This record gives sequence, C-alpha cells and structure tokens, in this order.
Amino acid sequence: MERAPRLGILIAVGNQKGGVGKTTVTVNLAAALGLGGYKCLIIDLDPAAGATKHLGIPVNSFAGTLELLTTDERLDVIALTDRMPKGVDLVAARPQLSELDTVLSKYVDRTRILDRLMADARSRYDFILLDTAPAAADITTVAAYSTADWFLLSAFPHPLSLGGLTEALADIADVRRHRNPKLEVLGVVFSNVDGRAKRLRAQLEIVVTEALPRRSFGTVISQAVILPELSGKGRTLFQVPGYPKIAAAQQYLRLAAEVEHRVLNRQAFLSGTLQPFEQAGSRIPHPPEITDTVTVAIDSLTSESIHGESTS
Ligand SMILES: Nc1ncnc2c1ncn2[C@@H]1O[C@H](COP(=O)(O)OP(=O)(O)O)[C@@H](O)[C@H]1O
Ligand SMILES: [Mg+2]
Repeated sequence: MERAPRLGILIAVGNQKGGVGKTTVTVNLAAALGLGGYKCLIIDLDPAAGATKHLGIPVNSFAGTLELLTTDERLDVIALTDRMPKGVDLVAARPQLSELDTVLSKYVDRTRILDRLMADARSRYDFILLDTAPAAADITTVAAYSTADWFLLSAFPHPLSLGGLTEALADIADVRRHRNPKLEVLGVVFSNVDGRAKRLRAQLEIVVTEALPRRSFGTVISQAVILPELSGKGRTLFQVPGYPKIAAAQQYLRLAAEVEHRVLNRQAFLSGTLQPFEQAGSRIPHPPEITDTVTVAIDSLTSESIHGESTS
C-alpha cells in the first residue's frame, strides 16, 4: 500500500535560557500531535539530553544525534521507537554531543550539518521537533535555527523572562537575515503559569503582541507538579492512564491543535488572514475541559501500566 506523503514540518523549540520549559514542551507537544495521528520525530540536540531522559532513555545507552551528524548512520536505524509515546520516535542525545565541533572536519559548514538528516526526516515524519540547548551559539542550536521552518519560543512567565524574550527574538531576526529567511515564529508558549499572577500574564501578553503580532496562543500551560514528576519518571503526560482528566494534558492537546492550525495554513497565518482557531477542525483529540484538580497517583505507575498504554 502506498503511504500518504508526510507533512515534513520542521519546528525548532528554543530559547537561549535554560529551565524555561523547552524540553517539556517538546516532548508533550510531540505526544499530543502523535495522538492526532501525526507521525512525529523528536531530535534531541542538547548535550544535556533533556528530551532523551524525559522519554525514559538512559543517556549513553543508544546511538543518536551525534552518530547521525558524524557518521553514515541512517535515521531509520537510529530512531528509537520502543516505549515511546504513541506516534513519536526519538533521536537521542548524549553528553559527547558537546564535542561535536571538534569531531567535525574544519571544512564542514556548521550551519548546514542538519541538512542530510532533515531531508530524510521530512520524508518520514509529519512533525520534526528539535529540542535545542540553552545556548544560542552552540553549533546544534545554530544549525537548528538555520534549517527549521518554524521557531517555537518557550518561556516561563517570570518578570525576568521579558529580557530573554527580546534577546531570543533578536537572535531569530539575525538568523533570518543571514541564514534562513524562511524561519518564522510559530508562537510563544508560556508554561508553568500561575493562575493567580494575572497582571504579569497580561504584561507578557502585551510584550508578545507588540513584538510579535498574532504569535500568542490561546492556550497556556499551567503550573503543574505532575510535569517535573513525570519527567523524573521518563514519561510524557500522554503515557499516564487517565490523562484526559489532567488539566495540563488538556492544555497540551489544545496547544497541539493550535500549532496544527497554524502550520497547515502557513500562508494565511503569515499574512494575517488565518481563520480563528476552532478545535472542531482539528485531528487532535479534545477532551472536555475540566476545572477541578485531578490527582494522579504517579507513584503507583508501573512500567507495564504506562508502556502498555503507549504501544497501541
Ligand atoms: N507547566 C509546568 N509546571 C511546572 N513545572 C514545569 C512545567 N513545565 C516545565 N516544568 C519544569 O520546569 C523545569 C524546566 O523545564 P525544562 O522543560 O527542562 O526546560 P528547558 O528545556 O528549557 O531547560 C523542569 O523541572 C520541568 O519539569
Ligand atoms: Mg531542555
């Protein structure tokens, strides 16, 4: 049977700061898109291997990004598929990735190191999400921005992150000018949002709207202790039985639907003529909104119960 062509959409999740939700957004957004039937690939470009660990893969146990960028290894051999969220594959990172610069020939163009891998990935996946290191000058980060179609800015709504946003946007402007004119900002995802800090959110909203018209999302990701807990357990929200009742999971599903709406209508989105987002038009499942807090007993999650869920 002939396989439908893949969308091949390449999204770099970034922010030059660490600890602002990049990895959490990358893995949970990919898992939410996966539930919508999209085939997703996460490429961990951070030597700290955050996405790799968050997906329960012990570092240094598999070949991954480093091998794909420095040898003739093939993506279909290297991509990890076992015990991943539904529809999601992973290219793992490990600490040695930080030595990439010294391993590459001095004649290799640093900004183009992802090209071969991306050409292959685009033909195999609908969404390719690049989790980047929190250092704008790292060669994997520069290569990610130089190759991607979209830049998804991840931030926590902290007064100090205002400066960070401006810096990140200046960096994107620079990439567009010198290297990748097709890179567009997909949006700014705020996570770890404290529902009580309404004024701060309103201020950040204004900053984003001024700097980046139309780049806010209708969805923010609330502060949810389950996210760090699950990260420690090597799972996404969508590998927890009963996830449709978890507020953060619902928010990630809505965010995924907003992302889908924008990327599938790129021209309209960029020209400002995009129809307002409606969940009804989305392939991503949308559970009914809940308002009460749901407690999920994470400690009771066994490897079997979680992985049993994810391998459908
Ligand atoms: N919505 C959230 N609520 C609470 N904690 C969060 C949320 N999103 C992320 N975190 C936690 O914040 C920390 C930093 O997030 P992470 O995704 O690792 O950021 P980065 O990749 O930018 O360094 C992690 O401990 C993560 O579990
Ligand atoms: Mg990270």
